[in-house]
Amino acid sequence: MAKVTLPAAADTSAATVKVWDPVVRLFHWTIVTGVVLNLWVFEHGKYAHRLTGYVVVAALATRLVWGIVGTRHARFSDFFPTPRRVITHVYALWRGEDARQLGHSALGALMMLALMAVLTGLGLTGWMMGLDAFWGVKWVEDLHGLLANSVMALAILHVAAAVIESVRHGENLPWAMITGRKRALGAHDADIAD
Ligand code: HEM
Ligand code: HEM
Repeated sequence: MAKVTLPAAADTSAATVKVWDPVVRLFHWTIVTGVVLNLWVFEHGKYAHRLTGYVVVAALATRLVWGIVGTRHARFSDFFPTPRRVITHVYALWRGEDARQLGHSALGALMMLALMAVLTGLGLTGWMMGLDAFWGVKWVEDLHGLLANSVMALAILHVAAAVIESVRHGENLPWAMITGRKRALGAHDADIAD
C-alpha cells in the first residue's frame, strides 16, 4: 500500500513547543494551593497548617534539585538572573524592545527566587516555633507573620506581571503553566518586539 504523507501545514503540533515539564507545573500548582490554604483556610499553626507548610517545603526542595538536573527551561542555568541578564532585560523593556522568550525572563526569575526564598523562610520559622528553644519567642512569630504578608504581596505582583506579560506578548502564560506548552518562537515575535 502506498505510504501517505501529510503536508507540513497539517502538522499543528509544530505551532507549539514543550516548555514547562510536569515537575515544574506540579511544583507551581502545589505551592499555589499550599500558600492559599495556609493564608486563608487553615487555622494558624494547627496540624493542617503545619502539614501543608511542610508539603510546600518538600515541593521547594524537589524544585531545587530539579533546577540542576531537570529539563532545559527548568534549569537555573537557563534563567538565573545574573546582573548582566537583568540589566539587558530592563533596558530592553525600557525601550519597548524585549522579545518574547520561552523560559523565564530575568525579572520573572528574580520574582521566582524571591518567592522561593520567602517560602523557605516561612518553613524555617514555622518549624522553629515548634522547637523548645523558640517556643513562644515573639520575634520568630513576628517574622513568620511578616514573611506570610510578604509572600501575599509578592504573589499579587507576580500574578499582575503574568497577566500584563500575557497581554503584551499575546500569549496566555498561566495557561502555559497548566499545559506546559508555548507558541514556538518565530518571525511573529520580532513583530511583537518592534
Ligand atoms: C506556605 C507556608 C506558610 C504560610 C503561608 C504560613 C502562614 C501563616 C500565617 C499567615 C500565620 C498567622 C500569623 C499571625 O497571626 O501573625 C501563621 C502562623 C503560624 N504558622 Fe505558618 N505558614 C506557613 C508555613 C508554616 C509551617 C511550615 C509551620 C510549622 C511547621 C507553620 C507554623 C505556624 C505556627 C505554629 C503559627 C502560629 C504562630 C502564632 O501563634 O502566632 N507555618 N502561618
Ligand atoms: C501563592 C501564589 C504563587 C506563588 C508562590 C507562585 C510562584 C511561582 C514560581 C516559584 C514560579 C517559577 C516556576 C518554576 O520555574 O518552577 C512561577 C511561575 C509562574 N507563575 Fe506563579 N506563583 C503563584 C501564583 C500564580 C498564579 C495565581 C498564577 C496565574 C494566574 C501564576 C502564574 C505563573 C506563570 C505564568 C509562571 C511562569 C512565568 C514565566 O512565563 O516565566 N502564578 N510562579
